[in-house]
Order: sequence, then structure tokens, then C-alpha cells
Amino acid sequence: MAGGHDFVVVASRLPVDRVGEDGQPPEVQWRPSPGGLVTALEPVMAEANGVWIGWPGSAGPAPEPFGVGGMHLVSVGLSADEVRDFYEGFSNATLWPLYHDVIAPPMFRRPWWDAYVTVNRRFAEAAAGQAAPGATVWVNDYQLQLVPGMLREIRRDVRIGFFNHIPFPGYEIFAQLPWRRQIVEGLLGADLLGFQRHSDAANFLLACRRAAGMTTRGSLVRVPPRDAGAGTREVRAGAFPVSIDAAAFGRLASREDVRKRATVIRNALGEPEVVLLGVDRLDYTKGILHRLHAFSELLDEGRLRSPGSVLILVASPSRERVEQYRLLRDEVEVTVGRINGQHGELGSPPVHYLHQSYPREEMAALYLAADVMLVTSLRDGMNLVAKEYVACRDDESGALVLSEFTGAADELVGAFLVNPHDIEGLKDAIVRAATISPPEARRRMRAMRRRVYDNDVAHWAASFLAALKQAPGPG
Ligand code: G6P
Repeated sequence: MAGGHDFVVVASRLPVDRVGEDGQPPEVQWRPSPGGLVTALEPVMAEANGVWIGWPGSAGPAPEPFGVGGMHLVSVGLSADEVRDFYEGFSNATLWPLYHDVIAPPMFRRPWWDAYVTVNRRFAEAAAGQAAPGATVWVNDYQLQLVPGMLREIRRDVRIGFFNHIPFPGYEIFAQLPWRRQIVEGLLGADLLGFQRHSDAANFLLACRRAAGMTTRGSLVRVPPRDAGAGTREVRAGAFPVSIDAAAFGRLASREDVRKRATVIRNALGEPEVVLLGVDRLDYTKGILHRLHAFSELLDEGRLRSPGSVLILVASPSRERVEQYRLLRDEVEVTVGRINGQHGELGSPPVHYLHQSYPREEMAALYLAADVMLVTSLRDGMNLVAKEYVACRDDESGALVLSEFTGAADELVGAFLVNPHDIEGLKDAIVRAATISPPEARRRMRAMRRRVYDNDVAHWAASFLAALKQAPGPG
């Protein structure tokens, strides 16, 4: 079983959004969704005759392979039960909370694991069917950790990379997973495993030793042969911090219409002295309640004034059928209502809460309108919003308050780093960021911008693929 593509990307989602109806031609039904991963991989895909394998995002049979914006896309279909058990269940109610340090309790359900195995096999078979002899296959994220091992069983000739976009937890936490050995063995089907931070890679190497009894030397894992025909393999695990298309955000932020929109936003808010901004998926890992509590106390204590200080809270809808997400939404909405009830005046609530998703132009305008960006994640693989804010601030003004529990904290040294659990510390950092002097803001922002522009998403993809090429490879 071999296909004709020399480069295969496997991710849980296709890089497209559905905009049309069934029955219309695919070019009309689907529009590319401009995520970082696509931007980075598009040139590689074009050059290497690439294909992207993923789930189109709703239950039902897979549409036929189609092309959008010059990309070849192959869909993997999920039934309604699989959406429940594989996507909402094992991926987002077991692995997601477990890998984010059990901020919410992970649920361990055997039928969910069975669905995870079944769906991972479907992705692996799809990849095996598309990859040309000797192709490079790049598998992405926690939803697909069994794919490298399953693919290697079918196709020994391909070179497999895996990148984990979310944290890899410490062993005491990972060890809770009843299927920890299978997950480690599945991942070790890859030739190269990429993580966001060195600590994630170190956690994984420890899991290899403890959960699967492997030996490691530096960043290499020795994987004994699975059967008589195979040799011992060496698999490398390392840190490759993901990034954004910084120049594209810079271009957006310098567009006349976007700059005007930023002015209109500040105007609509009543020209406040300080605009604070938070942008996240509505997810319990993001520390949205911690941020609200800190803001509320600052208003209580008069350290921030209302009107005068405004918090824009963009919390885009996410995984809405998963219980923990529903509970969080209720709590956020009650808290916003309480703050606005207590501190608002007619026509000027202190919190502007938006449970919506916006196009990138609007996001860039919001970044330009905000004096202080608040990223308060309790745990976050990278946090690309922090990098987007920095990329847009071309006049080097503005300040970033950034949780030390994000991957971005390793890189964005010009941020006000915070422990979001420490509400007093968070409040102090918000006040310092809101009252920063222009020279200090410039100094901090300049350092962060250099980093984000140097280590952009193209650099990230190129360094991962270069390391994959050099990895010991299929044996
Ligand atoms: C995180 C994950 C991605 C995921 C995205 C959106 O960034 O790392 O793998 O696709 O969230 O989540 P969703 O459940 O909508 O795919």
C-alpha cells in the first residue's frame, strides 16, 4: 500500500472551514483556515507534492479527497459516536486535562480508549495509503499519538516525525493513564519527537524509561525490535518551540483599515486610559477566572479605576459539548456579570466579554487597541496569542503580562512574567504593565519582537524537518 505523495501532514483537523452546503463543489464548500501550521507547511507541501490528512470537523462519512488553495486534502471521517468517544472523550476529557497538569480531573473510560485506538488506526491507514515510497510523514498532536507506531507497522520505509503541540506532563501525572505504555510505544514509532519546551521532552524521556522500560542516552531512546525482521531503532526527542507567521501579522497590523478599526474600538469603549485584553479559546487551562479575579480586586481597591480601565475578554467557543467547558462558561459569565454589576456605570461596563470567534483582521485591530495583553494560562504548550500581540506592536508600545506556565515564557523575556495562581503577584504585574514608561515598554517590546520575528513559524517548521532528515531514520 503506497501512494504518490512525498510529504504527508497528519493532524486531527483539516486546515479548512466549511462555508458552503453539501452538494456544492468542494472549492465552494471549504475555505482555507489560516492557522499557523498551514502557513508554515504550505511552501513545503507545494514543493514536495504534499497532502494533508485530517478530520473535516463534523460527524459523518468522509468527503472525497479535494483541493483548496493549491493544497491536496484527504479527509478522515468520524461517526457521531466517534466524535463523542474519540474527540470529546479520550482526546478532550482524558488527555487534554491530564497533559495540562490535571487542572480539571481527567476521566478514564475504557470505551473512549477503544475509540481512540480505532480512530488512530484509521488515520495511520490513510497516511500509509497516501505516502510515496520513502516519504516524510509529519503527525501532529495529542489526538494522534498512536499513529506513528501504527504507521510504522504498515510502512517501514517512511520517515516519521511527531510534534506535540501541548505540554507533556511530569511522570507522576502521566502515570495515572491506564494506557501509558501503549501511548509511549505509539509515539516511539516516530524517528523524531518534537515538543514545545525542553522540560516536555525531558518528561517524555522519563516516561519512556518508567512506563515502557526503555533506555535513553541524552535525547535518544533505544527502541528494541518489535519482531525478528526489525533492528533496534534510535528515536530522538527534542524541543522545537512553535511560532507564528510574524511578518503576516506585522503586515495586517500596518494596514490602514486595521489601524482605523483599532481607533474605532478605543472610541467605542469611551476612550479609556487603559485597555487590557485577553484572547483565548474558552478553556479552563487559560486562567480566565484568575484574570477576572485579579481585575475585579484591582477595581475594588481603586488601583484601577472604572470608567478609565477596561478589560476586553475574547473567549471563543470551544468543545462546547464537554462538561468541564460548559461549567467554565457558566462561571466566567457569572463572574463577568458580577464585576460589571458592581463596578459598571450606564454605558460603560468595565468588562467587555465576547463569546465569539473573529477573523484575523479584527484580532490584529484588537491587539493594536490594547495597552496590556493578559495571558494567564495555568498550563499552555506555547500560547501563540502572546506572540501575535508582540508581532502586531510595530511602534514598540504596549506590555505583555505572561504566565510562566506557557511555552512562550521561555522565549518572551520582555514580558511581565506571572504565576497566575498568585493573585497578589498578578495584580502587581497588571498595574506595572498598565503604568509602564514608554522607554521601558520599548526596551521590553523590542527584545520580544526580535525573538518572534527571528523564530517564526517557517523557522520552526524548517528546523523540525531538518532534524527529522538527520534523525537515524527508518531501520
Ligand atoms: C489546541 C490543540 C490543537 C487543537 C486546537 C483547537 O491548540 O493543540 O490540536 O486543534 O486546540 O481545538 P479543537 O478541539 O477545536 O480541535
